Amino acid sequence: MTDQPMNDGGLVAYGIDTTRPSVARVYDYALGGKDNYESDRALYRQIMKIAPETPEWARENRRWLSTVITWLAEEAGVRRFIDAGSGLPTAENTHQIAQKVNAACSVVYVDNDPSVVAHGRALLLDNDRTQFAAADLTKPEEVLADPAVAGLLAAGEPVALVMALMLHHIADYEETREITRKYAEALPPGSFLAITHACNPGDGGPLDQLVTELVEKVKHAFPTLAFRSVEEISSLFGGLEILSPGVVRLAEWHVPGVRIDEPPLTGARDAIYGGVARKA
Ligand SMILES: C[S@@+](CC[C@H](N)C(=O)[O-])C[C@H]1O[C@@H](n2cnc3c(N)ncnc32)[C@H](O)[C@@H]1O
Repeated sequence: MTDQPMNDGGLVAYGIDTTRPSVARVYDYALGGKDNYESDRALYRQIMKIAPETPEWARENRRWLSTVITWLAEEAGVRRFIDAGSGLPTAENTHQIAQKVNAACSVVYVDNDPSVVAHGRALLLDNDRTQFAAADLTKPEEVLADPAVAGLLAAGEPVALVMALMLHHIADYEETREITRKYAEALPPGSFLAITHACNPGDGGPLDQLVTELVEKVKHAFPTLAFRSVEEISSLFGGLEILSPGVVRLAEWHVPGVRIDEPPLTGARDAIYGGVARKA
């Protein structure tokens, strides 16, 4: 692909606008990926001036995702995964992590970014236990009616719904809560909801100042971006039981029941929080 939309059925056919930054492609660039364009890289350079820890946040988030998916497949016995707001394919994707533990794991990816839809579908062509749903996650009824999602849920077996670095792209907090409540309600008993989310402690301290400046700087490109407090993030689990260690900085999170002595946390890791909840 080139940086310019092609008129002959190339990028334009996918609805990909390379002239404006996309969340998925800026994140891809932060992770060292190649599926991005000058508009994405220009915004990333602005972000880096304010938050040089951005690539560390992205890598930490992918590490967390890998730990959680592995634990869910290996210890919790989950065989069905929905990766909601999956992003562009990267080094280790959810189906590769889960199927490494058990080849019988099925994964449905959901995203509405045209770049992700195009690349995701291409990646999954050769994996018959993996599907892609092009859908807007702010519309739970439509997502839940998608044949791939509905098919995964229909068996009534536990499903892990993963919403990593996705919910902070919905501006309205009450709407975000209502969305996750609807997804939680649709999950069969024994299912899991795993969330990571950008956090603003709201205490006027250095992290508060940094993320406030960041949100202001990118608002022309990502107007719905909303960093939230730990309490607000914790209330996004649809009333499900949040497993130990709770909603914590990603570096503090560990597999339930296993205590890990972590080295002292760096400030750079403070901005992303995550947790895993289970439906009784
Ligand atoms: C920062 S990326 C995170 C990718 C991946 N979940 C991870 O944590 O590595 C956020 C993704 O959420 C997707 N996304 C944001 N809002 C969405 C929506 N309303 N419906 C579907 N996907 C959405 C974006 O397109 C993007 O691919």
